[in-house]
Amino acid sequence: MTMHYVEANGARIPAIGLGTWDLRGRACARVVEQALRLGYRHIDTAEMYGNEREIGEGLRASGVRRDEVFVTTKVWQDHLAPAEFERATKESLVRLRLSDVDLLLIHWPSPRIPLAETLGALCRMKQAGFARHIGISNFTVPLIEAAVKLATEPLVTNQIEWHPYLDQSKVAAACRRHGLSVTAYSPIARGRAAGDAQLRLIGLHHRKTAGQVSLRFLIQEGAIVIPRTSRLERLEENMTIFDFELDAAEMEEIRKLANARGRVVEWPGSPKWD
Ligand SMILES: NC(=O)c1ccc[n+]([C@@H]2O[C@H](COP(=O)([O-])OP(=O)(O)OC[C@H]3O[C@@H](n4cnc5c(N)ncnc54)[C@H](OP(=O)(O)O)[C@@H]3O)[C@@H](O)[C@H]2O)c1
Repeated sequence: MTMHYVEANGARIPAIGLGTWDLRGRACARVVEQALRLGYRHIDTAEMYGNEREIGEGLRASGVRRDEVFVTTKVWQDHLAPAEFERATKESLVRLRLSDVDLLLIHWPSPRIPLAETLGALCRMKQAGFARHIGISNFTVPLIEAAVKLATEPLVTNQIEWHPYLDQSKVAAACRRHGLSVTAYSPIARGRAAGDAQLRLIGLHHRKTAGQVSLRFLIQEGAIVIPRTSRLERLEENMTIFDFELDAAEMEEIRKLANARGRVVEWPGSPKWD
């Protein structure tokens, strides 16, 4: 498969990556190794997932060169004060056994720590060479605007929940305005989209599964997708999404699935910043 990329503020990010939340231990290392052997070139992890050690093991076992893989990790909400942020970043690198990551994200904004302090720390991690690129995750439109003003280094992505049941057009437009890409997490709505009758019907026309339609929809909306699977046979299914195209009517039909109760991931704490 030819890898497709999304370019954003100086970064070139593989349009599909492997999500790894909830993958643990040897099984996690195996899935990562197999994904890389199949052609995945982008792995998404976080200190909070408790699997960075295994991600590093899978990466090394795959035999794929380090500079061919785009590795993202994230600093958790409890570590957003500057000294903590730096410590957490370095600890992630030690667990991954890498000298840098391709992308370092603020995992969730915190209403307790001033954004200016966290953004300063994030930019310093790039300047110190621990991260080639930096970005944000779960940032709303007002927070994106604030972050862009505060950052002294370019932000390249906002990683947010996005799938057919959630309308993220406003957040995506704000990202686009500032040159950030959008990385869609839970892109098959934690499995729900894979069982959707309407998506399945659209997929029949293209000889694709409902899960592939969900991922393709997001790609055509301009997003990067990071589906997770623990099953080796689904790795290939999820990456085979660049050999068909949804037409305008199909895209519109899928957009109509969005609704106010579409979120599948709970936000930690109350989103006072919204
Ligand atoms: N930044 C953040 O705050 C944040 C939050 C949530 C997630 N994320 C990232 O985004 C990644 C993906 O999101 P997610 O894990 O929440 O959900 P997801 O990728 O939408 O869905 C994963 C679920 O769907 C199933 N699945 C995967 N491929 C399938 C297919 N082709 N057909 C049917 N079922 C399929 C998987 O089961 P099997 O394992 O049985 O295949 C798993 O239960 C995460 O792993 C993580 O890296 C980031």
